[in-house]
Amino acid sequence: MFDFSFKKNTFLGIDIGTASIKIVEIRMIDGKPVLSNYAWMPLGGNGSAKKDLDSEYFYATLPICIKKMIKKAKISGKDAYISLPSFGGLITLIDFPEMADGDMEQAIKFEAHKYIPTSLDDVVISWDVVEKREAAKSPGLSGVETRGLPGATVKVLLVAASKSKILKYENLIKTSGLTLRSVDIETFSIIRALLGNDPGSFIIIDIGSKACNIILVEKGVIRINRNIDAGGLDLTRAIAKEMQIDVERAEALKVSGKNFFTSAAPTSFVTLEVITGEVERIIRTYFKEEGREKVTEIILSGGMANMVGLADYFSDKLKIKTVVGDPFARITYDKKAEKLVSRIRTSFAVAVGSALKGVEEFSKKAVK
Ligand SMILES: Nc1ncnc2c1ncn2[C@@H]1O[C@H](COP(=O)(O)OP(=O)(O)OP(=O)(O)O)[C@@H](O)[C@H]1O
Ligand SMILES: [Mg+2]
Repeated sequence: MFDFSFKKNTFLGIDIGTASIKIVEIRMIDGKPVLSNYAWMPLGGNGSAKKDLDSEYFYATLPICIKKMIKKAKISGKDAYISLPSFGGLITLIDFPEMADGDMEQAIKFEAHKYIPTSLDDVVISWDVVEKREAAKSPGLSGVETRGLPGATVKVLLVAASKSKILKYENLIKTSGLTLRSVDIETFSIIRALLGNDPGSFIIIDIGSKACNIILVEKGVIRINRNIDAGGLDLTRAIAKEMQIDVERAEALKVSGKNFFTSAAPTSFVTLEVITGEVERIIRTYFKEEGREKVTEIILSGGMANMVGLADYFSDKLKIKTVVGDPFARITYDKKAEKLVSRIRTSFAVAVGSALKGVEEFSKKAVK
């Protein structure tokens, strides 16, 4: 049979970060995701005021940048997959008594109100039952069906994002000459890129320029997700202050491979203490529930994961093995490109995870 949909096997994952735009093109070839192209553009400046979605910068400058990147890298794909910064969205696990689906819909809307201060009309809500717990059985009634009995609970993952925000991103992609196929939330894209279907319990710490996203995932399910205002820019400023140099020089030193953690007088990074404190709090919350698995590994992601000595810093402070994540681990690419890929590796988790959403949809269609 002729297949006229051959062009639809190419997916562009686009990450509009504070410090840079990252685009990755992934193509499905013989049922496997292959890295076919990528582009990376630093946005310069100190990253302030760049997240204002109503600014000219957002609706006019960014599309020009994206068009330039596409032209220069000769990216041919048109189908774009993006992810909203997790800051604006809501991802939370809520316990409910087990109930019929129709009632659940109502209960979730009611509950969502508590988390979302604005009108629910401006919010896209989706939810998924991620765990069912039966009521404790009484000893004499072993094997008795507990569904529906008082005490049976379900855990629901509630996800909400602002419709008007999504619309602004949709316009941005359209103005860039592309077709928006899907909007995800960064947290989900990072998990898709770094964990795949790995079982076990992990904490992912994604540190970008301005934001830090901490995700506790157990057997593929998000347990806790927190975003804090802490990022690479804070570390650059700390280096500048301590060494009495300007921010540009401090940034250059930071990315040069110098280890700021091992010298006789290591730089003190308050930001990293804040992040460590938040991770400790997350772990305590997680273990409040019975039967939780040990957190086996911390996975670093985002541009800051490149910082020499950072993984050891977290291993030392948190006493949990810490590794640098690899979003290209499940993607085929020309080994000649290894050097290039190693340069972009950790920074591209959101872009790769966004494109993999397209791969996921493509694979689902192929199975049907
Ligand atoms: N090799 C390196 N060593 C140390 N730091 C690095 C290195 N490469 C990048 N960084 C830092 O990573 C940060 C940028 O990370 P990333 O590209 O993930 O940010 P972003 O996605 O644009 O920002 P955000 O997610 O906060 O909007 C910057 O602070 C930069 O200095
Ligand atoms: Mg980012």
